[in-house]
Amino acid sequence: MNENPLLQEVASAKINLFLHVCGRRDNGYHELDSLMVFADYGDVITVQSADDLSLTLIGPMAGDLSAGEDNLILRAAQGLQALSSVTQGATITLEKNLPIAAGIGGGSADAAATLRVLCRLWDISPPEADLQALALSLGADVPVCLRNRAAHVTGIGEGLTPTQDLPDCWVLLVNPREAVSTPAIFKARQGSFSAAAPLLAEDYQSFDHFIAALDSRHNDLSPPAQMLCPVIDRVLAKIHGLPNCALARMSGSGATCFGLFSSQESAIKAQQTLEKETKSWWSAVGKIF
Ligand code: C5P
Repeated sequence: MNENPLLQEVASAKINLFLHVCGRRDNGYHELDSLMVFADYGDVITVQSADDLSLTLIGPMAGDLSAGEDNLILRAAQGLQALSSVTQGATITLEKNLPIAAGIGGGSADAAATLRVLCRLWDISPPEADLQALALSLGADVPVCLRNRAAHVTGIGEGLTPTQDLPDCWVLLVNPREAVSTPAIFKARQGSFSAAAPLLAEDYQSFDHFIAALDSRHNDLSPPAQMLCPVIDRVLAKIHGLPNCALARMSGSGATCFGLFSSQESAIKAQQTLEKETKSWWSAVGKIF
């Protein structure tokens, strides 16, 4: 038996199927109302026990990222050590497949997957409330990424209500390889706040019901993102025009946009069509959960 096994966890892409900005707190953070789901596609975190903490970056998107102390993965690992009085360390490898600063929670999902896998490696189970508080201290999207399942999210990201089972639905993610700053997008948002609009139980009963419910909601960060990063207009138009695309929208603060499809085959066909026309863009297909 290997006494120092490698453990692995996928940091799945997070997608805001809709995102209403409902208010602003005194500390500058915004009150959100969002249906957040995950795609079965993402980064991969691999860990092995060691005396100290260390981080190595590999993968196609690793180039733009720092493996220094400011990396959210190391901050998550240090936070967990402190929370559970752990003296053990870990060698951590991040295979970065998701684009960075892209509105699909790459950094948040990495931090959350690190917390999950290190709890296994170090054989600790801190109280759920403490783990969620640590997650929130790392970023507003980290709590939902820690749960790693579809949720209706409120507050700044800490209010999590699990959804009904989702209908079978595949997502095509498309990023034009332009990084977008989340604080800048929130700052550029104008106009009044939106009302909260959680989906109803019956909205989950079929793909068509689901799409109809999402269609009557929106992403409030899309207009400011389209203003600051105009290529998003083209990305949305391209996805919208793909065969069998039921809904096209931007995720989070962008610039990644998504199309929803009722079958894996139609999502893959759409990706192939898109890739012929827009060779420099990044794209991925996954089933949502
Ligand atoms: O928490 P996180 O570091 O992911 O947030 C990045 C930025 O996004 C924050 O500094 C803030 O400007 C903005 N934000 C917000 N309201 C939220 C989440 C994020 O204003 N609910």
